[in-house]
Amino acid sequence: MSDRLHDAFAYRADEDNTRVLHVEDVPVPSIAQRLGTPFYCYASATMVDLYGRFAAALEGTRALICYALKANDNLAVIQSFARLGAGADVVSEGELRFARAAGVPAERIVFSGVGKTEAELAFALDEGILQFNVESAPELARLNAIALDKGLRAPIALRVNPDVAAATHDKVSTGRRHDKFGIALERIPALYAEAARLPGVTLMGLALHIGSQITELSPFETAITRVVELALRLKGQGLPLTRLDLGGGLGIDYGDDRPPSVKDYGALLSRLTAKLDIELAIEPGRALIGPAGLLVTRVVYLKEAGDRTFVIVDAAMNDMLRPALYGAEHPALPVAEPDPRAPQGPVDIVGPVCESADTFARDRLMPPLQPGELIAFGQAGAYGAVMASSYNRRPLVPEALVKGTAVATIRERWGYAEMLARERRPDWLA
Ligand code: LLP
Repeated sequence: MSDRLHDAFAYRADEDNTRVLHVEDVPVPSIAQRLGTPFYCYASATMVDLYGRFAAALEGTRALICYALKANDNLAVIQSFARLGAGADVVSEGELRFARAAGVPAERIVFSGVGKTEAELAFALDEGILQFNVESAPELARLNAIALDKGLRAPIALRVNPDVAAATHDKVSTGRRHDKFGIALERIPALYAEAARLPGVTLMGLALHIGSQITELSPFETAITRVVELALRLKGQGLPLTRLDLGGGLGIDYGDDRPPSVKDYGALLSRLTAKLDIELAIEPGRALIGPAGLLVTRVVYLKEAGDRTFVIVDAAMNDMLRPALYGAEHPALPVAEPDPRAPQGPVDIVGPVCESADTFARDRLMPPLQPGELIAFGQAGAYGAVMASSYNRRPLVPEALVKGTAVATIRERWGYAEMLARERRPDWLA
């Protein structure tokens, strides 16, 4: 497990000349003092850097970078990307509302998802979004009807299921034949021709998304090649096709991963779509925000049990679900810089929730740790805070955004009073 994090995170001397992990120019312990633990914090510089890499990699193409809100839907995070020129990929009315509230123009928003409800379709139509990525024939029919009712035309792409295995965790693979996503490649031509005749929709093109945390280029290459061939065929039949949405999915390095560079990914997209000469959209989430975030937690106890050493921390599976759900491993760094000569030993880093799944790392080599010490989990900006719950009546964790020497709380920790206030007692218990 490597400790490589983005340059915005480094051990540096603080005011007392103690070397501690910093987020840009802010010592992590100072944020812990302000927010309490556990908390998420994000580095603006990383977001700017990563967005810049995508923009540079796609230079020369007509590509819109639609940040996938599901990776991290904090308003300030969305707004940070919107400021850089990003559009948004949303999958619910809630995400659409947050994208708009963060200042993303409607004409830069694509709406994906297999289960868009009538209310969601109507809302998005009224907002005037760029494109609906339609995932089934019934959705197409419903959208057409709603648009006609409103006297509007819905701009649509059909989402293709290219039947490609994305070499990622089974739970986040979306482009195989048996996955619930998209429309089978061979069914597209007929449905596309049918859509072209519908008065309530305007056909923009095709959309694709094959999965997440993809660490090789080959699945992208296979899927995009199939979609480009299909697009050429449809255009050849005189059907309108002006945009390809190639989805998200580029992986990041959680320690042992060697994902392709954004530059190589962009070069592949440019090369494969060159002969079409059309607009592109991409929907990266993790690769834009994952490396920008830390989850910071405090050691509560050290516990020896049999041959194991448990480091019990105050963050739990409800705060960051990825290890419990996918067996994901995030880098774990002591916030106080360890002495390089300190002996490392294997420990299990676990949370307080009453499930064995509440384990962040097993047999992780760590220097000696003390109760009260801070640990930072890296690469935690994506699918961290968004997947948190209040399981075990633990309040949702706060989030902070750093920019240079400035720190802003961008979401407050939930309060117990707030949690209690939302509950209702039925009359018969009164
Ligand atoms: N577009 C669509 C239609 C998607 O379904 C997704 C992710 C994305 C874009 C963004 O993919 P990304 O660039 O972030 O890989 N909770 C899981 C990941 C689920 C991803 C779901 N869809 C995890 O923690 O690994």
